[in-house]
Amino acid sequence: MSAYVYHFSPAGTTKRIASVLGFALDADAQMIDLADPATLGGEHPVSAPTGKPEDSDIAVFAVPVFAGRVPQPAAAMISRIRGNGMRAASVVVYGNRDFDDALVELNDILARQGFSVIASGAFIARHSMLPAVAAGRPDTEDCGDAEAFAERIAEKLASAAERGVSTPIDIPGNRPYKESPAAAWTPSVTDDCTLCGICAINCPVQAIPHDAPNTTGQTCFQCMRCASACPEGARVLPAPVAAMISEKLAPIATVRKPNQVWV
Ligand SMILES: Cc1cc2nc3c(=O)[nH]c(=O)nc-3n(C[C@H](O)[C@H](O)[C@H](O)COP(=O)(O)O)c2cc1C
Repeated sequence: MSAYVYHFSPAGTTKRIASVLGFALDADAQMIDLADPATLGGEHPVSAPTGKPEDSDIAVFAVPVFAGRVPQPAAAMISRIRGNGMRAASVVVYGNRDFDDALVELNDILARQGFSVIASGAFIARHSMLPAVAAGRPDTEDCGDAEAFAERIAEKLASAAERGVSTPIDIPGNRPYKESPAAAWTPSVTDDCTLCGICAINCPVQAIPHDAPNTTGQTCFQCMRCASACPEGARVLPAPVAAMISEKLAPIATVRKPNQVWV
């Protein structure tokens, strides 16, 4: 079996789940970073891994949930990949609130691109805007869940009876999808900023000018990659946004919600 793991992971937790899942499926799984600015910029056009996929091949698509949806740049990237009938597993990773319509949306995109989705999962991770929510996740138990999910996917792939089925799984979520709110803020930059430019290099949508990395442009979609990449911790949530989110998420901050899979 060959596994191709496409992940979009601004703050790293989606990649962690995707890596565990991919490695459990295939020790030589190929990891493809859809949030790499070079990939997004089109210098390395993303395409289906094989012209004619084998029955045992699997593509894993893992994205975080932003406002109950697939982040728009991730949706745009996946919409450039052709499945050619390849089987796929879809995964959304969310910060303990809800994944709303993200999984339905991801599966719709994959079906449109010619993938046959045979399994889906919704995994919990610390909230990238407020890491105290679901702090420390994904942890050992979550990684165990990802490995168990991989086992079920492998069994399903191996079962000839399942071949040719597109989406036999009943995923929670609605169509039309939740409205995406307009971007209302960009990260604040504190006096600790040394203008090193690491944030600019890492921004998946080139929203941070390389010659003025203490500013943020309009293409920012608030993914928090700059905040997690900054060695000085100088890129932060604006205080009023932090206060608002903190109040909203307080009731679920320390609740241990389970991961869910549909196979
Ligand atoms: C802009 C934004 C919106 C988010 N919206 C949601 C949401 O609707 N529901 C939720 O449970 N978590 C939400 N989160 C939390 C992320 O889904 C979660 O932290 C995820 O693990 C981030 O993945 P990453 O570490 O790969 O970037 C949001 C995070 C950001 C930055």
